[in-house]
Amino acid sequence: MASQSSNVVILPPTNQLRGLYSIIRDKDTSRSDFIFYSDRIIRLLVEEGLNHLPVTEHEVTTPTGALYQGVKFLGKICGVSIMRAGESMEQGLRDCCRSVRIGKILIQRDEETTQPKLFYDKLPEDIADRFVFLLDPMLATGGSASMAVHVLISRGVPEERIFFLNLIAAPEGIKMFTERFPKVKIITGVIDQGLDEHAFINPGLGDFGDRYYCI
Ligand code: PRP
Ligand code: URA
Repeated sequence: MASQSSNVVILPPTNQLRGLYSIIRDKDTSRSDFIFYSDRIIRLLVEEGLNHLPVTEHEVTTPTGALYQGVKFLGKICGVSIMRAGESMEQGLRDCCRSVRIGKILIQRDEETTQPKLFYDKLPEDIADRFVFLLDPMLATGGSASMAVHVLISRGVPEERIFFLNLIAAPEGIKMFTERFPKVKIITGVIDQGLDEHAFINPGLGDFGDRYYCI
């Protein structure tokens, strides 16, 4: 099972989280509810992602004059969204990391072949010096996310500085992705049963981009 990899982190399946997924998976959920409740899960994913960044010891003095042995984040981060659906996760990242830099990669799955195609990328110039939160809500075959990671590596980002945040993963995609990129950390909300004959995630939630942006 893919979740055995120490580099796959799954959000704890609390009743709250299961309730949120029940809303966004429901085919009768309105677009505005889909956006609102997806955004809540996205926020949880971003918060969990931040837990995995390295920190260094940092001592502060409180107003009582006491010393507090705390920590602070080590290094700079940026977000990279896989367009279109990944853009839905940008605001959640901004809500936690003020004025965070965000790059974009436009990758689309061909609807016939399900193979990903790379159309465009625009990334922060100093991305090689940053921790990267790669954003895409759906990990199905893993083709799109793998293509995005190839782009990041080609710009000098070390694998171990990439954190892939996603809402729903298929076991097939997790397997393929973790075999290719064992050092990339996946932070996902849930791993579903598998892919159907159209390479859609089952039970899944349908087409995330369409539900968030269009229908
Ligand atoms: C969806 C999704 C991922 C990809 C996952 O995007 O947002 O990018 O499919 O599938 P894979 O793991 O099999 O590659 P899609 O290409 O449908 O475009 P969209 O973001 O415009 O909806
Ligand atoms: N993309 C989606 O939006 N949903 C899936 O189930 C698979 C790919």
